[in-house]
Amino acid sequence: MVDAIYIHIPFCVKKCGYCDFLSFQSDEKQRDRYVDSLVNEIRLYPKIKYDTIYFGGGTPSLLEPFQIKKILDELDFDKDTEVTLEVNPKTVTREKLQELKNIGINRLSIGIQSFNEKFLKKLGRIHTNSEGIATYELAKEIGFENISIDLMFSLPDQTIDELKEDLDKVFLLNPEHFSIYSLIWEEGTPFYEKLISGEYEETDNDIEADMYKMIIERSKENNYHHYEISNFCKEGKESRHNTKYWRNKEYIGVGLGASGYLENIRYKNISEFSKYFNEIENKRFPRVEEEIVDNEMLEEYRHILGLRLLEEGISLSSDEKYFNIYQKLLKNGYIKEVQIENQERYLLTEKGLFLANEVFEEFI
Ligand SMILES: C[S@@+](CC[C@H](N)C(=O)[O-])C[C@H]1O[C@@H](n2cnc3c(N)ncnc32)[C@H](O)[C@@H]1O
Ligand code: SF4
Repeated sequence: MVDAIYIHIPFCVKKCGYCDFLSFQSDEKQRDRYVDSLVNEIRLYPKIKYDTIYFGGGTPSLLEPFQIKKILDELDFDKDTEVTLEVNPKTVTREKLQELKNIGINRLSIGIQSFNEKFLKKLGRIHTNSEGIATYELAKEIGFENISIDLMFSLPDQTIDELKEDLDKVFLLNPEHFSIYSLIWEEGTPFYEKLISGEYEETDNDIEADMYKMIIERSKENNYHHYEISNFCKEGKESRHNTKYWRNKEYIGVGLGASGYLENIRYKNISEFSKYFNEIENKRFPRVEEEIVDNEMLEEYRHILGLRLLEEGISLSSDEKYFNIYQKLLKNGYIKEVQIENQERYLLTEKGLFLANEVFEEFI
């Protein structure tokens, strides 16, 4: 039974130079209308008791707490439900964080990206280093006990020492969880234009691999589990919601451009406001794409997503096609066989981790 929901909030104060997530500048009227639509979209789905609720964006913290509450009021959850909200430092105050806690948000994912003023400027972030740290400290003071920090590395001209300084700050703050993604040069973004014009250069592959190696080593030294390719956590503090994605579990996705996976169908919502509002007003699912997941696709997803979970991996498939792929990957040292709770499972090896994309391609 599905027990997870992703709620997309497609608003940002200002677009960051590298980002191609679905998000726009907005006014109060548009945000109000959007929240009403979300409420109506949620009503199209059966009432479910949720184990995880995730407000992602864009910048969910741009909404007022009463608007988040309006959405939460539509959902059945209790104090054991993991309720995550992505936060941009510039959009919250002590009062707002307190209100968010009062209405049931119990996990924050703070978009820090870097602690270095030079990179924050380059990235086009709206907050300074001290505002990022202050938001984290405030959240702690107020009593949030499950905080994640988002960072990026392999930034234009970033040195290994600069990354090391960012990591030192993370370990000083000591959050329960952090994710760190290497910069993806997304076509159509200002960053991509600068790459094409030669103003920015991609990080050399060997340097990027050294950076990733350092992230892994330093995290281990600081008692973080490296539980997913780009995600690290203190014991038991994995993102319960995101882990469901990697376990290929079904989830409901609502909001502009949101994806979902329900009753064997992977779907994607409409990405244009006017069409999205229109479908909701007509009490129709605002979907633009639906894909029926047959057994073959299910296995494909299960392998590609499951291998991302570095401590859990995947259970073996009885399908001959997979047997041959496993043999090849085992022979090349990309995966290893382990026993977890009396079950044989495959995990990525360190070599496989650094060449993960090649491994995943074998399953497609
Ligand atoms: C959609 S954002 C939501 C967080 C929030 N909007 C913020 O940025 O403060 C989720 C995360 O994706 C990562 N991200 C976004 N664009 C990226 C890119 N082009 N390359 C790598 N990571 C990216 C960032 O770490 C970001 O925090
Ligand atoms: S990175 Fe986050 S804050 Fe920046 S534009 Fe993308 S969604 Fe908005």
